[in-house]
Amino acid sequence: MANEEWGPLAGLIGEWEGQGGLDHSFHHADDEVGDTTYLEKVSFKPFGPVVNGAQTLYGLDYKTAMWRGDETDPFHTEIGYWLWDAATGEVMRCFSIPRGIVVIAGGTAAADAKSFTLKAANGDATYAIGEGTYLHAHASSITYEVTVTIGDGEWSYEEMSMLKMDEFPDLFPHSDRCTLTKVG
Ligand code: HEM
Repeated sequence: MANEEWGPLAGLIGEWEGQGGLDHSFHHADDEVGDTTYLEKVSFKPFGPVVNGAQTLYGLDYKTAMWRGDETDPFHTEIGYWLWDAATGEVMRCFSIPRGIVVIAGGTAAADAKSFTLKAANGDATYAIGEGTYLHAHASSITYEVTVTIGDGEWSYEEMSMLKMDEFPDLFPHSDRCTLTKVG
């Protein structure tokens, strides 16, 4: 198998684009919940090994951006790393969203898995969500979960962030999904 050091992340290496993204979130400008379709461009660049004592990781340096309609500036971006620990079968996704949010989500997968799920929770000792004081008080990310499915020349994700927001008495389900095809 090519790039087997990267385990289940090997199939993500490259440049990807998807037109059919769908975001479900609360839009303050309209004061209502809305669904937004988006164009997404993702880049994954392999690196490794990274050694932490007895632990050896192989990773992907990633960045992604999403645009709605014909806007020039993306309305959502992420930068971070996806990591694979072959010894424990752990997959980790560490990323930052420029709202003052950092996430490290984790889960386990077989080395040849074509689908896996990663989770993080606010306050968890390992796979956790960090946020600034404003968001903590008014729109706190309580849990995050993403399921990734890798196909031939395409991959997709479905993710859900449960937010504790001023606007709703119950947790608000903020979700995103996209299917991306290989462009490089
Ligand atoms: C594809 C990924 C994502 C997209 C496209 C996206 C998009 C959006 C959009 C459109 C808004 C509404 C902004 C507004 O009009 O007020 C929003 C708000 C927000 N999102 Fe996301 N988001 C994504 C992922 C995430 C993730 C992973 C988290 C947390 C783990 C998150 C946490 C938040 C928070 C805390 C807000 C602010 C809510 C507020 O202002 O009250 N988002 N996002």
